[in-house]
Amino acid sequence: MALASGAAALAASLLLSAAPAAHAEFRLPPIDSDPKRCERGFVGNTIGQANAVSDKILDLRKCVYAGKNLSGKVLAGALMSDADFSNANMQEAVLTKAYAVNASFAGADFTNAVLDRVDFNGANFKGAKFVNVVLTGATFDGADLSETNFEDALVGSQDATRLCANPTLTGESRDQVGCRQ
Ligand SMILES: *[C@@H]1O[C@H](CO)[C@@H](O)[C@H](O)[C@H]1NC(C)=O
Ligand SMILES: *[C@@H]1O[C@H](CO)[C@@H](O)[C@H](O)[C@H]1NC(C)=O
Repeated sequence: MALASGAAALAASLLLSAAPAAHAEFRLPPIDSDPKRCERGFVGNTIGQANAVSDKILDLRKCVYAGKNLSGKVLAGALMSDADFSNANMQEAVLTKAYAVNASFAGADFTNAVLDRVDFNGANFKGAKFVNVVLTGATFDGADLSETNFEDALVGSQDATRLCANPTLTGESRDQVGCRQ
């Protein structure tokens, strides 16, 4: 296995501590100064980097992917806070150990996606489709889950508890997640 660079290792450990333990206080690295950093979102990284050990962190913070096609992309260890994925095609995307606080996924389509250990606190999912997703270790504190569709989603039990505690998850979405009420 390749040795992680200092920054990658740091971010990976930050993300590890950030994921299900919501509200962990930590400092993010400064935004990557590479002017093409947002374009890297269309490439993603490979499954081999699924544990977020890579030479360079995928820094997609504040990038705009509204309405874009990111279907099948692997976004491992990505920093995605404040980014705009509204109405994006995220079908079959793989997000693992990602930090997506306050990002917008309004109207995004996550059909068949894998969402594993992602911090979605404060994110906007209004009208997003989670059809047939696999959802594990994700946090949704303060996220807007209104009008979401979780049909046939495979939701981890702790994830279900967290989702059901979110007051914006209402109506049929609650049944789909398996909430008691
Ligand atoms: C989106 O991207 C995927 C993967 O590159 C491709 O197979 C699919 O046809 C694209 N969909 C649209 C609507 O362009
Ligand atoms: C997310 O948004 C909330 C509310 O606007 C803000 O208090 C918080 O600092 C933001 N967090 C990040 C990491 O941007």
